[in-house]
Amino acid sequence: MRTYSIYLLLFFFSFVLASCGKQVVSSPDGSLRVAFRISDSGSPEYSVTRDEVSVIDWSALGLRCAEADLTSGFQLTGWAERDACDEWETVWGEERRILDRHNEMELRLRHQSGMKMNIIFRVFDDGFAFRYVFPDAASLTVLDEATEYRFLSDHPAWSIPWRTEYYEGLWTKAPLSEKQDTLCSPLTLEMTDGTYAFIHEAALTDYPAQNLYTQAGVLRTYLTPWLEEGRITEVKAYVPAPFATPWRFVILVRDLRALTASRIMLNLNEPCRIVDTSWIKPMKFIGIWWGMHMKSMTWEQGPIHGATTENMERYLRFAHDHHIEAVLAEGWNRGWEDWSSFSFTEPYDDWDMAYLSHLADSLGVQIIGHNETGGNAADYEAVLDEAYTYHQTHSIRAIKTGYVAPIIRTRDGLQWNKGQSGVRHYRKVIETAARYHIAIDNHEPVMPTGLQRTWPNLMSQEGVRGQEWNAWSQDGGSPSSHVTILPFTRVMAGPVDYTPGVFAFENPVMPGTRVHSTLTNQLGLFVCLYSPLQMACDLPENYMNHPDAFRFIENVPCDWERSLLVDGEIGAFCIFARQRRGGSDWYIGGVNADTPREVSIPLSMLEADKTYTATVYRDGEEADWQTNPYDYLIETRDVRATDTLRLRMASGGGLAVQLLPR
Ligand code: NOJ
Ligand code: CA
Repeated sequence: MRTYSIYLLLFFFSFVLASCGKQVVSSPDGSLRVAFRISDSGSPEYSVTRDEVSVIDWSALGLRCAEADLTSGFQLTGWAERDACDEWETVWGEERRILDRHNEMELRLRHQSGMKMNIIFRVFDDGFAFRYVFPDAASLTVLDEATEYRFLSDHPAWSIPWRTEYYEGLWTKAPLSEKQDTLCSPLTLEMTDGTYAFIHEAALTDYPAQNLYTQAGVLRTYLTPWLEEGRITEVKAYVPAPFATPWRFVILVRDLRALTASRIMLNLNEPCRIVDTSWIKPMKFIGIWWGMHMKSMTWEQGPIHGATTENMERYLRFAHDHHIEAVLAEGWNRGWEDWSSFSFTEPYDDWDMAYLSHLADSLGVQIIGHNETGGNAADYEAVLDEAYTYHQTHSIRAIKTGYVAPIIRTRDGLQWNKGQSGVRHYRKVIETAARYHIAIDNHEPVMPTGLQRTWPNLMSQEGVRGQEWNAWSQDGGSPSSHVTILPFTRVMAGPVDYTPGVFAFENPVMPGTRVHSTLTNQLGLFVCLYSPLQMACDLPENYMNHPDAFRFIENVPCDWERSLLVDGEIGAFCIFARQRRGGSDWYIGGVNADTPREVSIPLSMLEADKTYTATVYRDGEEADWQTNPYDYLIETRDVRATDTLRLRMASGGGLAVQLLPR
């Protein structure tokens, strides 16, 4: 790992500041400028310009706490500036090396109550961030966060409402003023000048998740409240001293390529805390899973029980034969009959854990464990060590966790999973799992905020309306546009366990419901929706009906050297290109909404002096998600960096390309 840093530290004191009125910090390239001032009533405020044009007008900062109103009554006592330029290496990710280049300004404030509060701004070339720091105050009871974003136009925003269960909703676009509901963080803005903004938080470890709402044209913060006996209280957070809130950040970029390339969120998280990360491995997996959602199998023991020794043996051998690194099994453990007494150490009678774990070892395939808690986080926390010892003993190095319950039961009673207590629980799970060398794929999570930099065993999370909705959703399944929106919204917050790879589109369980996609679109998802634990969700027998197309899934990696958006439009289509980590082969994936389109893909990312064999998986002439999802063609041709691929994506269609240097 190559790291270099330059830190410059300058201190100025209040007598210097008095003459300036405001403090300004610019991005390293000088294009973005964040200004800070204390208003006449002592309220901290900030504003933002880009290339001298105002983007965010003077906006409020501060917290309202039970102990003091920390939104006014402040004096500036000093400030410090630093600049940083670090390059660090990811354990896994969309790219190996990440550059963290920013300028920082720390404002030191004293409140009339005597309390100290510092605000730290960081300005990058592609956005800015800030957080509140309480260096020595007594512990605080946070009632509200006053943070505002006073954008100067009524920008259209992509969002889901803040009470969307587990974030499993369809993202919609409307001008901020027309958004009636409070919204989940993140928000993606298609700015009225044709540029883009993305608003979210980073390093959420012991605080409630932020939500956002518009009031009189101003975007304001609403922290997820604590509940008492299931009812909303006025308290949002109990913070110990010293304390720093999560970072609030805004990406400001001119195009979607720069949006998806922004690494501000990861840069704002702490460096890796796990010393030996060699056991953390990106993997593709299949699983005993889709059968349950399609109702041809059950989680609980019975005549069509999915997780039997026999079935698992079949899946493990299939994975071995097709170079898939792991197999997930849901329903292996007792408790599925009533969802209230799950055991994480006792298998059903028809599951021989010792045998399967030996078989998996001998085949070189991993078993991915499954711990559904039914939302009972408190009971799960109480047996974490026992559960992880059991999994570790059976060579299980990754566990999918689940919290199906609108309100979860934490050690603080019934709470929202994205309230402070839920956030603490998830963090405890990640840190405990790390001690047992176990990676986590968290379903029904709190929205990711980049914690995987610090804890790279937090590999994937759901927090999305995933493929499972196409099995049983009463509304007929997600529209084809859904997966063209996610890379610019949910996936900007972190890896997503969407579970791509459906190869059979008939749905006997819910005939009106289906996957709104062609088979090629399902291949494209493996590149478009990033996850280092990437599931191929369909049944082995369905894959064997299309072994030639399945070859793309066998070959596509899930850990990358470099990634880039080739082209896209939110809600219409997207095309990504990614290079295998440590390799020179490239993979391109595209997904399309309902309108068929021709696309051009310049291959300029390839090495200039090399010829590559391109294997192109594309929609056939008759392909259409509604009438003919199975129509696909596979073609091979030689290409060079100067070539451009011209391909057509059908309605709900897609494309997938493997590029191997010759
Ligand atoms: C919801 C999860 O998202 C899904 O993947 C899982 O199969 C069920 N819960 C059961 O745990
Ligand atoms: Ca779910």
